[in-house]
Amino acid sequence: MRVGVLTGGGDCPGLNAVIRAVVRKGVSEYGYDFVGFRDGWKGPLEGVTMPLDVAAVRGILPRGGTILGSSRTNPIKIEGGVARIEENLKGLGVDALVAIGGEDTLGVAKALHELGFHVVGVPKTIDNDLNATDYTFGFDTAVGIATEAIDRLHTTAESHHRVLVIEVMGRHAGWIALHSGMAGGANVILIPEVPFDMDQVCAWVDSRFGQSFAPIICVAEGALPSDGDLMTKDATVDAFGHVRLSGIGDWLASEIERRTGKESRAAVLGHIQRGGTPSSFDRVLATRFGLHAIEAVKDGAWGTMVALRGTDIVRVSLSEATATLKTVPLARYEEAMVLFG
Ligand code: F6P
Repeated sequence: MRVGVLTGGGDCPGLNAVIRAVVRKGVSEYGYDFVGFRDGWKGPLEGVTMPLDVAAVRGILPRGGTILGSSRTNPIKIEGGVARIEENLKGLGVDALVAIGGEDTLGVAKALHELGFHVVGVPKTIDNDLNATDYTFGFDTAVGIATEAIDRLHTTAESHHRVLVIEVMGRHAGWIALHSGMAGGANVILIPEVPFDMDQVCAWVDSRFGQSFAPIICVAEGALPSDGDLMTKDATVDAFGHVRLSGIGDWLASEIERRTGKESRAAVLGHIQRGGTPSSFDRVLATRFGLHAIEAVKDGAWGTMVALRGTDIVRVSLSEATATLKTVPLARYEEAMVLFG
């Protein structure tokens, strides 16, 4: 059997660990050979490949990014896109695809599966917002990086008696903000799921200064004030209809300064959260996902995605995985709120 592998969407620490596990087990246990598709769905769409054998995956376990490259190409939106993929797979003799990605990449995988393609999915996103899996790899690394940043901001905020706002990733789901904010002891955590009230935020800021400490506000990029809108860079959208978010951290800092009179600064963590070496938790999860994904290929379990349930890796349908996003439940946010201010 010849298996194609691709990584799509925003990159994420642990992608290389999945690729390595898929190839190593596929070669040694099942005698498969592999084709690496470049840059997400662009690879099969344009027939752009790279060699993918045991030699190609040596030494990549701890490396961030993806040796295959990534993109947000959506072949379903391109006229004749599906037919081109079919033709290219046929031409290359590829019998099955392992698609490693988030909601968008796996949404395409689901659509192709429904058209008869042999596809197995692996969930990836630092945002941890994919349904049907308890965790995605990349999340633990991102939370670790954001937590370290918060630890560092505490000392400079205290030295200068300033408010420090840290903006972390999370378009629709506030998992990174919630976990890093909690781990780093942020005094306010703001997430997309719960629009915030500026008066309340300022009251928390004041109460923190009342205890003679400087407040740290951890905000997800997709958070929004109850009487305002999402802050975007411009009006352009990507192939999956997503706007580029930007600006909530800076806006919050200046609004807090204006309302409370306390000097405020913002730090935007951005892609630092996505780059670099994966944590050991993510390496293990990514490796286990890879080992189980190639087993799903061997079993012909097309249209499934590997998922973490508790400590077990199970198979779920791509439809279940992509039906809705896994956002932060209100009760989880309220749990953290007890420590605000
Ligand atoms: O989808 C993951 C994510 O990290 C989001 O949290 C963020 O909005 C987005 O990627 C930004 O990605 P890029 O800058 O690559 O378009």
